[in-house]
Amino acid sequence: MNTVGTRTIETERLVLRRYRIEDAEDMYGNWTSDEEVTKFMPWPTHESVDFTRLLLTEWVSYYEDGGTYNWGITLKGDDHVIGNIAVVSKNENIRSFEIGYCLSRKCWGKGIMPEALKAVILYLFDGEKDLNQITATHDTRNEKSGHVMQKAGMHFEGVIRESKLNAQGLHDTAYYSVIRSDLVTRKQYEDLFMEMHQNFFEREYVRNTEEGKVASEMLLRLQEFDSSKYAKDLPDVTFGFYDGPLDVLHEAVKKVNPNWVKNFTEDMRFYCALVEGKIASFCIIDDFGTHEVNGMTWKIAGPGCVGTVPEYRDRGLGLTMISHVTKILRDEFYDYSYIFYTYVDKWYEKLGYTTILKWDKHGFVDF
Ligand SMILES: CC(C)(COP(=O)(O)OP(=O)(O)OC[C@H]1O[C@@H](n2cnc3c(N)ncnc32)[C@H](O)[C@@H]1OP(=O)(O)O)[C@@H](O)C(=O)NCCC(=O)NCCS
Repeated sequence: MNTVGTRTIETERLVLRRYRIEDAEDMYGNWTSDEEVTKFMPWPTHESVDFTRLLLTEWVSYYEDGGTYNWGITLKGDDHVIGNIAVVSKNENIRSFEIGYCLSRKCWGKGIMPEALKAVILYLFDGEKDLNQITATHDTRNEKSGHVMQKAGMHFEGVIRESKLNAQGLHDTAYYSVIRSDLVTRKQYEDLFMEMHQNFFEREYVRNTEEGKVASEMLLRLQEFDSSKYAKDLPDVTFGFYDGPLDVLHEAVKKVNPNWVKNFTEDMRFYCALVEGKIASFCIIDDFGTHEVNGMTWKIAGPGCVGTVPEYRDRGLGLTMISHVTKILRDEFYDYSYIFYTYVDKWYEKLGYTTILKWDKHGFVDF
């Protein structure tokens, strides 16, 4: 992995900077000597400032290796270190870093550590182009540390019992992580959308959309898809790819939206729910191609022109069909399932899809 090393990071209230040997007194006075702070740390409380100085001497020498990430936290306008944040381990195989931190007790409860952690996460993903994951852990009894991770936008992954050691002995450990794809920005989603749908807002059907009508774009990371999330027992329904006559399919589509019929052409993949051999729900499976997003390569597909013929609605047919399609896309090794242009975002949310963009006839809108 390429490395940027420990450079100064500024946030709204903080400056994270490299340590100097002269920080030993502040470091010792503010946290390494305080048993309340070190209670859940994997290292023992320091018994003298000399010990802290020795450690600092070592830490400072590590900066020569560009791959070291270890910051002293200071408040803007005051150069004294009040805490520490660092990359404490690396797993190069899976391109993952673990972060550890601690903070002077007098600074607790002010949102300082979430601010530092958020900044370090962005710094690392920005500087380390290959980095895919950042993790952090805490002793389950140290709930405050979990709040820091949550506030910094990390995802709780679970608890592994007695998996780490600190001054209290073996402890149950809560694991948090953030992966690169969690950090895609609205601008990056807009770029992705415009790449998939060139000149979209100049198209006639978009310009003719009713004033004030807002459509959603939705996404689901297929590795996260839980096919048990929506399960209905539908014994009289058969699901599968449709390879019957196109005009029969067109008749069903016409009952839902006559404007869609032209989209159902010979060269596409269709998926349907059949009741007594009749088409009750249908969709196209669109391949949106492979795209570069925030340094990642995403293979994207998704169900489009989704409909349930009116007499079969509200029985769970449509959503169960989309659940099947989503599972198929996952099994075909797509990375994301994408819902293009929908007004039923609440419906798709039941399967775990989330809205990434909204637009009206004039362009993207805030939400
Ligand atoms: C949207 C549509 C496909 C839903 O089909 P359906 O087969 O009736 O939907 P389901 O029965 O599978 O719905 C499953 C669940 O979602 C709920 N639901 C249905 N429509 C919903 C909506 N618009 N918003 C939120 N929830 C909805 C149902 O109440 C049901 O809830 P439950 O199982 O938790 O009790 C259908 O109404 C339709 O064809 N509409 C016109 C075309 C359209 O808008 N397609 C979407 C284009 S992207």
